[in-house]
Amino acid sequence: MLRSAIMDYFIKNIVSLLKEGTNLPENEIEKFIEIPPDFKMGDYAFPCYTLSKIFKKSPNIIAAELSNTLQIIINKHPPVSPIFKERYRGIAEIKAIGPYVNFFVDKVTFSELVLKTISEERDGYGNKTLGKEKTVVVDFSSPNIAKHLAVHHLRSALIGNAIRNIYKTLGYTCVGINHLGDWGTQFGQLIVAYKKWGSENAHKTYTVTDLNNLYVRFHQEAEKNPGLEDEARAWFKKLESGDFEAKDLWQHFKDISLKEFQKIYDMLGIHFDAFVGESFYNTMVEDTITRIKEKGLAKVSEQALIIDLEPYNMPPCLLRKKDDTTLYATRDIAAAEYRKKTYDFDKMIYVVGSEQKLHFNQFFKVLELMGYDWANNCVHVDFGLMKFKDGKMSTRKGKVVLLEDLLIEAVERIRKIIEGKNPSLENKETVARDVGIGAVIFADLCTKRNKDVVFDWDEVLNFEGETGPYIQYTHARLCSILRKYGKPVTADIQFALLKEDESILLIKNLVQFPSVIIKAAEFYEPSLICNYLIDVCGSLNRFYNAHRVLSDDEELTTARILLVDVTRQVIRNGLTILGMQAPEQM
Ligand code: ARG
Repeated sequence: MLRSAIMDYFIKNIVSLLKEGTNLPENEIEKFIEIPPDFKMGDYAFPCYTLSKIFKKSPNIIAAELSNTLQIIINKHPPVSPIFKERYRGIAEIKAIGPYVNFFVDKVTFSELVLKTISEERDGYGNKTLGKEKTVVVDFSSPNIAKHLAVHHLRSALIGNAIRNIYKTLGYTCVGINHLGDWGTQFGQLIVAYKKWGSENAHKTYTVTDLNNLYVRFHQEAEKNPGLEDEARAWFKKLESGDFEAKDLWQHFKDISLKEFQKIYDMLGIHFDAFVGESFYNTMVEDTITRIKEKGLAKVSEQALIIDLEPYNMPPCLLRKKDDTTLYATRDIAAAEYRKKTYDFDKMIYVVGSEQKLHFNQFFKVLELMGYDWANNCVHVDFGLMKFKDGKMSTRKGKVVLLEDLLIEAVERIRKIIEGKNPSLENKETVARDVGIGAVIFADLCTKRNKDVVFDWDEVLNFEGETGPYIQYTHARLCSILRKYGKPVTADIQFALLKEDESILLIKNLVQFPSVIIKAAEFYEPSLICNYLIDVCGSLNRFYNAHRVLSDDEELTTARILLVDVTRQVIRNGLTILGMQAPEQM
């Protein structure tokens, strides 16, 4: 069971009470504490099966006897105050149900703790010191230059950004790295293509589309004329050995690509702490290969240098081709060594599609064979594909979905919806952008990451489905209530007034936030934050539909306004982790 600090408070007290009643050691008791499926049965429960074995009585009888004993202990304590039902540190009532002893916490104490904590911690609610003095490196997005940023690079960008935020929220120092694919034989191909056919367009300013077309042309022509492949290899070899002309052209292709990538990252609001491509490690691979050789791991096979991974049921890891050029894996090994030296990370997370599972298994195995104990701290966070239901955006053969178009279309469609719903809204442009982009981000993140995502415009943009716009809209509605209220929110309220089931259930949702973040970090799963936000919005809407927030009853209004304000805060914190904006008006 994952627990937040506030839940800890109650569990600790329940454990110490149970210790008084059973004489079992505290850690034994704690292991058994559960949360009942229905809150009407209690907030926490202690199953009596173990005690039943010790005392050779049925668990139901034990539960009944134990709850009597505990009640007697509690009754010895005077009530804390007339409004608090609690007599014993937050516990209000004990009831045996079947083989369980069920505990009801005092709702007033509970509400006060949760609401005061959130209103004090504000943007920091959910933060923990778990990651203090620990560093996490997140390798994400990492597109290949001279090609358009593909959908899997978008997925990696969004998942990676959210994972980095999740770890940041837990107090880790995070280093987000874009491991740009800017090295490899393909750049030899591009140089050949550019020199042969690029000059036909020399008058125009090149775009990524032009570069991409050059690739396509290279492959078409190479089918007829295999000699082109040799030329390309020769050019890449020149590039690896620092040839001036090769480097100059390559830099040019890289600049064109970076400009396009940056436009998309800016739209998404994503930044990297380091934008270091594969080329950066070119000068380090020789030393890496030497270390691998010294460990006796490398061998020559068909003139190539490889690491045999057969004992681990994997194909060999290729370090150097017969023409002496290096490979993707070689550069990843060098990069890992460099990053360990530079950042001394406690964990390194690679957010890359499932299709590269073998690559990461091989490369992590190599790190392990090289004797690096930190190989165990490297994780491949994989994810499924994104598929498009809308024909217009579907990946046509050989063509990638242009992400810029996708994002622009999302904003455009949201602009039209807003135009219909709220034509007088100020900042329509900004809101349409925040909601349109947010819709794409949420649609990408809300499915469990290793599942494929089916992108359907109608679903993604629906203000009433389980979508980004729905969460943002709920947040904006809360802001609007607070605007109408118009006074400062205070946490100095009568907590006993928030006694209805809908309020308590909402507060029970809010208390979970820190533990949801911990779980999301543990499983590298931003979808847990999405699901959580949907739950909070659901509870909020049930509360809102059942109870008037603003009324003539001043005390009740102040109490409910506090609940509205902290809910707004939690939704905002969650959206921020996902990399989404939280507009105050929609
Ligand atoms: N550029 C690669 C690709 O598009 C992804 C790189 C992922 N990161 C890494 N360190 N291998 O497939």
